[in-house]
Amino acid sequence: MVAQKGWAKMGLLKAGVIGAGSIGDVHLSGYASAKRDAVVWAICDTNLKRLEEMGEKYGVPSVRRYRDYRRMLENEPLDVVSICTPNVYHFEQARAAIERGIATLVEKPMTLRLEDARALVHLAKRVGVKTMVAFSHRFVRMNMAAKRLLERGDLGTPFMIRVRYAHGGPYPGWAQSDWFYKRRYAGGGALLDMGIHAIDICQYLIGPIHSVAAEVKTLRKPIEVDDNAVMALDFAPKKCLGMIECGWTSPPGFAGIELYGDEGTLILDLINGPKWLRGKQTPDGATQFRPAKLAVPKGPSHWPLQMAQWIRYVRGKSVIETLPTLEDGLTSLRIALAAMDSARTGKRVTIKR
Ligand SMILES: NC(=O)c1ccc[n+]([C@@H]2O[C@H](COP(=O)([O-])OP(=O)(O)OC[C@H]3O[C@@H](n4cnc5c(N)ncnc54)[C@H](O)[C@@H]3O)[C@@H](O)[C@H]2O)c1
Repeated sequence: MVAQKGWAKMGLLKAGVIGAGSIGDVHLSGYASAKRDAVVWAICDTNLKRLEEMGEKYGVPSVRRYRDYRRMLENEPLDVVSICTPNVYHFEQARAAIERGIATLVEKPMTLRLEDARALVHLAKRVGVKTMVAFSHRFVRMNMAAKRLLERGDLGTPFMIRVRYAHGGPYPGWAQSDWFYKRRYAGGGALLDMGIHAIDICQYLIGPIHSVAAEVKTLRKPIEVDDNAVMALDFAPKKCLGMIECGWTSPPGFAGIELYGDEGTLILDLINGPKWLRGKQTPDGATQFRPAKLAVPKGPSHWPLQMAQWIRYVRGKSVIETLPTLEDGLTSLRIALAAMDSARTGKRVTIKR
């Protein structure tokens, strides 16, 4: 059990988590670890067994354990809340929290429908509340170092980005039930789960995606939603293309990001770490590369770092990374949905902004 003595005197943020599943545990751990800033105040999950288990783990008294998020929001004086439920619930739960002026961290995808994402953006602006979408790959240390490197121009002008986010899927051993494979709860499959992280990181590192063409398929699992997708991106007017592969059926292999610029190559391999080759590459193929070391600051990994940064932001403290906004959640969803349209129609889709 995590000790929470003395919170009252210290004016800590009272944190609530809705959906205490696998990622909910990560959020709870983040609030519990920020001992000078936050306290795990209340918790909500429709699954009683999970609620009890997580309540015990984080020392939340029984009276502040809820199965209905509305009652938790009504009864508890929360300062900050995380929405960690299956995708279909994000909109109504985030809306309810934001309406109450509670700082809200919502998991990805932020909503399933564009109009709902837009509604959250407008609502948060109107209420003036702090919000964030949990695009956790922004907090992968080597991705942060890559962002700084691109800003310094150390890769020259990037002309190609490839992202491969693929693994064996959310089962066995991750999610609490089979909701990820049900269209009604998830809204989509690997593309909306992993592809949306890739879309966000592409836009974060390179800039706005202008158009997308995609293939989205259920190749290997007997499920309702897609288990593999590829997207071809154009960052026009920038002279840069991108390729995303995401999947839930992958045997071990490359996972991460490759960036190619006219002054170098950067491989951000999630398993083996980064590799940077510096040097001029002329269009005729002449190269003179030398290996260089990407300076990746040490520290907590992406999930704890994401939580620590979010809590600092809510507390009004400085942060070291640009935090993903609801607008970022909206544009990433727009591109993911456009990719699904492209796969259906066989046509490239230009992104309206
Ligand atoms: N950012 C990341 O890196 C990352 C990683 C994994 C999952 N996620 C996202 O987090 C969300 C949750 O995924 P997960 O893997 O933790 O799933 P999970 O199945 O492990 O957890 C979901 C929890 O929500 C509970 N729940 C379901 N309906 C509820 C409701 N109406 N009210 C309250 N609780 C409810 C379930 O009982 C379960 O405990 C998804 O949106 C997923 O896309 C993000």
